[in-house]
Amino acid sequence: MTNVTFIAHDGTETTIDIANGDNVMRAALANDIDGIVGECGGSMMCATCHCYVDDAWADRVGPRADGEEDMLESAACEVKPTSRLSCQIRIEPELDGLVVHLPESQT
Ligand code: FES
Repeated sequence: MTNVTFIAHDGTETTIDIANGDNVMRAALANDIDGIVGECGGSMMCATCHCYVDDAWADRVGPRADGEEDMLESAACEVKPTSRLSCQIRIEPELDGLVVHLPESQT
């Protein structure tokens, strides 16, 4: 299990354990994290799972997947250099302690 902290737009922090191999979006939905919608179920067709990887983790999470950049263009909130589709962040033990920030809105 890998520990991931979600920081909502209002500053509320929630930390959950995610099974390795799962992705951040699916885990957020399973744990009722407000701020992640995941409308397309993780097939990179919606951008409602947009999140900002904390600066300290940006390099460790790795680059955006093919096509992720294009889909982020339809995100509801500002896209930043640390923006990711959380469905494309696969959880691995090396990401233990990962922090992601949630945008104000996904729609
Ligand atoms: Fe739709 Fe991530 S859930 S792009």
